[in-house]
Amino acid sequence: MKQATPMNTDIIKKDPTKFTKTPNISDYTSSYKDFTWEKAEKEFVTFFEDGTVNAAYNMIDRHVENGKGDKTALIYKGANGENETYTFQQLQKLSNQFANALTSLDVEKGDRFFIFLPAIPERYVAFLGGLKLGSIVGTMFAAFQEAALIDRLSDSKAKILITNAVLFPRIEKIWKDLPHLEKVIIVERGSQDQPKGDTIVYYKDLMDKASEDFAIAHLSKDDFSYMLYTSGTTGKPKGVVHAHGDILQAIVTTKYVLDVQDDDIYWCTADLGWVTGVVYGALGPWGLGVTQVMSEARFSPEGWYQLLQDTKVTVWYTAPTAIRMLMGSSVKVKDYDLSSLRHLCSVGEPLNPEAVMWSYEVYGLPFHDTWWQTELGGISITNFPIMDIKPGSMGKPLPGVVAAIVDDEGKEILDEAEGNLALRPETVSSIMKQIWNNEEKYNSYFSHGWYLSGDRAFKDKDGYFWFVGRADDVIKTMGERVGPFEVESSLVECEEVIEAGVIGKPDELRGEIIKAFVVLKPGIEGTDELKEKLKAYVKQHLAGHAYPREIEFIDKLPKTRSGKIMRRLLKAKELGLPLGDTSTLEDY
Ligand code: WT7
Repeated sequence: MKQATPMNTDIIKKDPTKFTKTPNISDYTSSYKDFTWEKAEKEFVTFFEDGTVNAAYNMIDRHVENGKGDKTALIYKGANGENETYTFQQLQKLSNQFANALTSLDVEKGDRFFIFLPAIPERYVAFLGGLKLGSIVGTMFAAFQEAALIDRLSDSKAKILITNAVLFPRIEKIWKDLPHLEKVIIVERGSQDQPKGDTIVYYKDLMDKASEDFAIAHLSKDDFSYMLYTSGTTGKPKGVVHAHGDILQAIVTTKYVLDVQDDDIYWCTADLGWVTGVVYGALGPWGLGVTQVMSEARFSPEGWYQLLQDTKVTVWYTAPTAIRMLMGSSVKVKDYDLSSLRHLCSVGEPLNPEAVMWSYEVYGLPFHDTWWQTELGGISITNFPIMDIKPGSMGKPLPGVVAAIVDDEGKEILDEAEGNLALRPETVSSIMKQIWNNEEKYNSYFSHGWYLSGDRAFKDKDGYFWFVGRADDVIKTMGERVGPFEVESSLVECEEVIEAGVIGKPDELRGEIIKAFVVLKPGIEGTDELKEKLKAYVKQHLAGHAYPREIEFIDKLPKTRSGKIMRRLLKAKELGLPLGDTSTLEDY
């Protein structure tokens, strides 16, 4: 356990005379005092004359109307050396065509349209087109396998899905269980062999037939825009739903936190299948009208440095696991020209002080930690360019946002002690608008006027927030959120397994790794081959990133008398920690 005392070593002092560009916020305290969401909305969001709005119009069309049509919106680097650029005007036309294509497939406002594609430009065209017509767009990570796909597509009752020939077989297997899925659009890029069928349509055919003009849907701020499934401790992943008006916080934070300015080249390394990819790889940067880079290739230190150098990235938003991998790599930073870089930010899991100090040393720039969640729709606590950094701290609340550490009764804890990290929900403009089909789950986030994040943290005397851990059993591995129940469910599908308990085990590189405690059927031997088999099963049936890297066979799982697995005990045992309160434990 981390101690609830701030580290006061190595504060990184900011010297305003050393900035290559004046930051968009030059005084945190006065910005916090003066900020209101009403004023920001007037400044950053364009409404139609009738008072309605559309996020995609704000991301693309308004910049074309403002004379920036020829500006590059997207620099795409493909996995096989493809090198493409798209201007705002090109994206306007393509997304209009795609919105028309979806309309030709009877997609209407409020219908769920899902995207299951690798990082290729068509994914953005689909995303923008879906928003333009008012469908609720769901994005999915390309590593998802049948179990993760079926959870999302059946709960949301998705009507249309776009994918490619490589990923389609996973959909084909489960389509019979998805009565609401009417058609699948196949993007031809990347494969010669195209699946055929009455309910399969092709991207190119649709686009060729579609007009480049489209009457963008006029929507209210609260009309739903995108949905993302995210994991909790119990049950299946839940659909977090956001609205068109949520683009405001995306834009505000891209400007004030990521400090993106008009001539920046910006790179967010997150995948569009996760919330960071949606908010900071689409809504925020394009909402501000800046040029962003997108790379399809898998992570490699050489590849990333090459990309930073070749595309002259100035602002870079990435995740702690990647930073630690770069830190541990033998690739030499000085072999690359990274002189364009001017501002670095990180998100997704705790950013350890060593990583901040390392980047300060090798790039001459410290990573700025940012904190938020899928449910919040935008950065809420963060380190600003102008603010001194206390390495290891998540920083301070965004202007507009009220954050606090509270006890279980909702009373604010003021003495630097650990408690629940909570936010006043009405101060987070982009907070989720619904949990799809699950009001009870939605309501469970709110108590005593607070939104409870599920994170434990403390606040130091200078107002900096420090992350301590999760209050629940949610696992964070390589910045990605994994529910123990989903992994346990996948493991028990294997014929050798009776039951399984899954925890996050601290790992220097990945933050946490998934560890499974597995009870085998009588007579089955717990061999290393079986471990490999179980790992492979989860990889192939749930998702490539959500498999247990460690498996331990045990005789019995610790459970409460009501039969719930006590993962807390598994974790305490694993880490050699005190077991704590075991009064609800059944005979173990
Ligand atoms: C959970 C939310 C926010 C976009 C990506 C993750 C953890 C997030 C930090 C940070 C420590 C962090 C928290 C949070 N987390 N950022 N800077 N320091 N922990 O979104 O998948 O919804 O996960 O990620 O535990 O609750 P997400």
